[in-house]
This record gives sequence, structure tokens and C-alpha cells, in this order.
Amino acid sequence: MGNTERIPTHIAIIMDGNGRWAKALGKERYEGHLEGVNSVRECIKAARRNGVKYLTLYAFSTENWGRPIEEVNALMELFCKSVIAETPELIKQGVKVVMIGRRDRFSERVCSHLQQIEHDTAAGEDLTLVLAFDYSSRDEITTAVKSIAQKVASGQMALEDISEHTIAQSLYTASIPDPDFIIRTSGECRLSNFLLWQASYAEMYFTPVMWPDFKQEQFDKALEAYASRERRYGKL
Ligand code: IPE
Ligand code: IPE
Ligand code: MG
Repeated sequence: MGNTERIPTHIAIIMDGNGRWAKALGKERYEGHLEGVNSVRECIKAARRNGVKYLTLYAFSTENWGRPIEEVNALMELFCKSVIAETPELIKQGVKVVMIGRRDRFSERVCSHLQQIEHDTAAGEDLTLVLAFDYSSRDEITTAVKSIAQKVASGQMALEDISEHTIAQSLYTASIPDPDFIIRTSGECRLSNFLLWQASYAEMYFTPVMWPDFKQEQFDKALEAYASRERRYGKL
């Protein structure tokens, strides 16, 4: 690989282990989420420093709605607070925020914060920060299939015109290149409904480090592992 290929263009992270981190320290789960926000800040810095162009963070899955209401509310509140607190710094750092996931199940307050941060950071050119919030890959693919089927049924698109490209263009990630590198913290080795289509040739990295402990040093260590991978894409 050439030097530029040693740095992934797009890194996607499944930020997991906040609750277990807190439990191990005798703290409330919420404190794990709170420290997790510091990890987000650190990883944005490390991504920019390394010249990564896209950083996707799995912040809330569709399945996470099934957690106790107190935890869901606390996560929504933390999201709103963080958006307000971090936006000026994100703008300063040239970070553009893009949301992927459903938008129709949030409270008005959460929705307005989502729109606000996308609007306020739209001019950022250094790093695109993709936040997966109420995201489910199967739901994303199902929605894409429906929209394509509708176009075919109405005669707007011919059956023969359905291709990998048209499918990719119907996903939330239409304007975003596929992830090169997927990191999951906390020792779990699964995708949990994250970027199933987009991950087809991504390199995977599973670390036992809990998300609240995943700071710049851990990020750089993961990048070192990526640099040593050989990506063959089925060829020799
Ligand atoms: C990740 O940490 C944060 C979210 C899924 C929102 P968890 O809350 O899943 O923490 P663990 O996995 O229970 O330790
Ligand atoms: C995956 O973590 C979702 C996010 C990081 C937002 P979970 O903790 O929800 O996943 P499972 O339940 O361990 O698969
Ligand atoms: Mg978890």
C-alpha cells in the first residue's frame, strides 16, 4: 500500500462499553456515557490530525429504544447538551456533521438540535462527522428497497437499471464513501445492525478497551493495525 492508503479515508466506530466501564468503577451507567463524550472529542481530534476525511460514530441504534426509558431519556438529553456545547469548536475545526438514521421518532427538541448542528457546520471541509442516531442498517436497506420499488412501479426506473450503484445511492450514506475501517470497543465482536451493506470490504478491528477509555492513543494504535493490513478485495 502507498502511504496515503495507510490512512483510511473513512473510519466507522461502534462506541460500546460505557455501562460496563462505569460499573467496574462503581459509578452509574450515565457517567460512562458522559466520559464517552470526551472520547468522541478526542477521536475527532485524532481523526483530523491523521488526515481521516470521514468519521462515522454509532451513537444510538434503533434497538437502543428498547432500553429502560430513564436511560433513553438520559442519552437524548446528553446528545442535546453535547451538540450545544461542541458546535462552536466543531465549526472552528472545520468539521461538518451529517446525521444518518430515522428522524421521525425523536422529540421536537432533539429534532431541532439535529437540524441545527447540520445547518451550523455545513461549511466544514476538513472532516465529515457522520452520526448514526436511531440507525439500523436493515431498516435503512428496507427503506431503500421500498423507494426503488416505488420508482419501478411508477415507471420512473426500469428493472434493468437497478444496480449496486442505485442501491447505494438510496441509502442514508449516499454521499459518503464506504468505511475502510470499522472499530468496535468493549470486546464484543459483532456489528449490531451497523452499516451492513457499506461494510462489505471494510477492515475490522475489535478491541477490549471500553469506549470511555478509547482516547487518542487508542485511536493511533488502531490506525497502526490498519496500516499493516493487506486489502485484497477478492483478488490475488
Ligand atoms: C455504548 O455503551 C453506548 C450506547 C449503546 C448508546 P453501552 O451503553 O452499550 O454500554 P455497555 O455495552 O452496556 O457496557
Ligand atoms: C451498539 O451497541 C450500538 C451503539 C454503539 C450505539 P449495543 O450495546 O447496543 O449493542 P449490543 O446490544 O451489545 O449488540
Ligand atoms: Mg453495549
